Amino acid sequence: MQRLLQWKVFEPSHHVHHGVRFMTMRYQLFGNSGLRVSELSLGTLTFGDAWDWGASKEESEKVFRAYTEAGGNFLDTANKYHDGVSETWTGEFIAGDRERFVLATKYSLSMRQGDPNASGNHRKNLVQSVEASLRRLGTDYIDLYWLHQWDGTTPVEEVMRGLDDLVRAGKVLYVGISDTPAWIVSQANTLADLRGWTPFIGLQIEYSLISRTPERDLMPMARAFGLAITPWGVVGGGVLTGKYHTAADPNAPQDAKRAHINGPRISERNFAIAAEVQAIAGEIGGSPAQVALNWARRQPGQIIPIIGARTEAQARDNLACLEFTLDDSQLARLDAVSKVEMGFPHDFLNTPRIQEQRYGGTQHALDNHREDPALPMVTPEG
Ligand SMILES: NC(=O)c1ccc[n+]([C@@H]2O[C@H](COP(=O)([O-])OP(=O)(O)OC[C@H]3O[C@@H](n4cnc5c(N)ncnc54)[C@H](OP(=O)(O)O)[C@@H]3O)[C@@H](O)[C@H]2O)c1
Repeated sequence: MQRLLQWKVFEPSHHVHHGVRFMTMRYQLFGNSGLRVSELSLGTLTFGDAWDWGASKEESEKVFRAYTEAGGNFLDTANKYHDGVSETWTGEFIAGDRERFVLATKYSLSMRQGDPNASGNHRKNLVQSVEASLRRLGTDYIDLYWLHQWDGTTPVEEVMRGLDDLVRAGKVLYVGISDTPAWIVSQANTLADLRGWTPFIGLQIEYSLISRTPERDLMPMARAFGLAITPWGVVGGGVLTGKYHTAADPNAPQDAKRAHINGPRISERNFAIAAEVQAIAGEIGGSPAQVALNWARRQPGQIIPIIGARTEAQARDNLACLEFTLDDSQLARLDAVSKVEMGFPHDFLNTPRIQEQRYGGTQHALDNHREDPALPMVTPEG
């Protein structure tokens, strides 16, 4: 279904035709906030030349323009990406129109090898990281500040109080958390609630047809706390596009520069999933990346995929996922080939005999308006 909406704000003149612009992007309220973000976020991990892979500045700007022309306003960068280059280029691309963007960046990863305090979630690294990001981005505030990865060492109180101080100081407007166990996030937001501190409004996780384990705890937690989910790796770093062919291929992954990222994703199981993605793409005349993105967008909860593109062509291909949706039979085929075991306690709690004990046979008579798909009142077979 093509969605062409009339949109008259924020427009560079060359996109305005007779005072009206056509676009496909819609906006959503981000988690438990009033912040308005486009339904796709743009990842900028590829923006940079400091590592041995990525896109040139010229190509990165084309990716950025393709995204903004489609109505995108939600940019995802990090201090670490290309050792600061991604932030610098992103800052340059938005300069002059900074207010219209929801600019998200992250802290936690090391910016000085060998210095124990140049990484981590603690207050010292938090303060030095936010100041350095503001300088590179050329702005005096960050719309959404992500804790990038849980360090396993900093007390949750220190993190939440430190982030709240940044919000009160006006350097950061909202906060989110990425790559962290569900029990830490739950503890953090419960603590923030009790102390009157700023809670996380977003959760960033690796989530795709080849990475569905977040369905066990992270995604039900996000739904329970009203966190928006911004998945990364949604096209499996390219594996779901079919660019890698067989696990037996001695040259796989073909692009050696991304081998450190994609190597663990190369498996017979993932090729079987990619084959189904390609089959459905062929049937509907879309691309595999579009199918992978649409599958993620249809999963329960608020899902705003972060699209990753190294070229303008990839960006345009990904953006066109908004032009169709998958039907139930296509979703069922993708689910069947990619399903993961839920494990304990889900499998135990969801067995009919255990449910019977828990509800005394009344589960069929009880309407639960807060039921989560991960913990159904009545199992499909029960
Ligand atoms: N919070 C975190 O820890 C974390 C981690 C990773 C990423 N992220 C964020 O999420 C964003 C996306 O993640 P990601 O880049 O790892 O995952 P991804 O979107 O699964 O993979 C992107 C890669 O897939 C290939 N690709 C993308 N679209 C394609 C298309 N239409 N056709 C063919 N190939 C296509 C390209 O590979 P080639 O370059 O080989 O062509 C591209 O570099 C990043 O930019 C970053 O902002 C966050």
